[in-house]
Amino acid sequence: MKLSGKIALITGGSNGIGKATAAKFVAEGAFVSIADMDDAHGSKTALELGPNCSYQHVDVRKSSDIDLWVKSVLATYGQIDILVNNAGIMRDQIMVKIKEDGTVIKLSEEEFERVIDINLKGVFLCAEAVAEVMIRQKSGVILNASSIVGLDGNFGQTNYVASKAGVVGMTKVWARELGKYGIRVNAIAPGYILTDMLAQVPADVLDKMAGKVPLRRLGKPKDIANVYCFLASDEAAYISGDVIRVDGGAVAGT
Ligand SMILES: NC(=O)c1ccc[n+]([C@@H]2O[C@H](COP(=O)([O-])OP(=O)(O)OC[C@H]3O[C@@H](n4cnc5c(N)ncnc54)[C@H](O)[C@@H]3O)[C@@H](O)[C@H]2O)c1
Repeated sequence: MKLSGKIALITGGSNGIGKATAAKFVAEGAFVSIADMDDAHGSKTALELGPNCSYQHVDVRKSSDIDLWVKSVLATYGQIDILVNNAGIMRDQIMVKIKEDGTVIKLSEEEFERVIDINLKGVFLCAEAVAEVMIRQKSGVILNASSIVGLDGNFGQTNYVASKAGVVGMTKVWARELGKYGIRVNAIAPGYILTDMLAQVPADVLDKMAGKVPLRRLGKPKDIANVYCFLASDEAAYISGDVIRVDGGAVAGT
């Protein structure tokens, strides 16, 4: 098993990619603590995955929640080997649009801040809390959820793209700052993955998106979970500061 005996923390693990990653990590021998705000699905996931998975209510925007989470995992297991910063949201809106009747629609300051708070500040707060533990241990792996749109840009996603490009930047900074302690930091840039995040997209649009992917299908959560597992494992011992595209060959922003 690739993650035998490892202690892993996964944010946003109640659903989608985070849930698939928790399942993969448990199957590979890890003890997983998932953190989310969706308590119903979080508890259900932990129950489904058995005694090696637990759930804790954490809002990644709140350092007080994160501190409690890290303390409780340390109290139970005494170490933290892996953090997957997966929690994220999308609130799409063109920055400025002037309709034919003169109505102006803008991306609001609130929606900009909301996405940045969860997708960017949340990643920073969790990494900062866990890095302290990993520095003392002199080992660890931090994995961050970016997106192909964080690399390529995308129409109507100012806030989301800013957050995911920021995650790429932080990944490269932390790989430099933490490498000397034996801590590896990488990011995954998923393409279009079929989860609740794409639930708001109409079926015909999803079909068109799949048609533009060279592999002619949308991604599955386990396509991403498998790569998180590889990056978390010792097989990736010499990979740090990198962003791995997992997108079926797709190019965003066209
Ligand atoms: N699905 C895709 O196509 C896709 C593509 C690229 C990147 N991503 C990224 O992958 C990650 C997972 O996406 P997904 O598709 O599984 O989404 P999802 O909506 O299925 O799951 C996201 C999870 O994050 C949780 N969450 C939201 N706000 C939170 C907060 N403040 N604190 C704690 N948990 C919170 C949600 O409750 C949910 O369980 C996200 O960061 C997303 O941006 C997804």
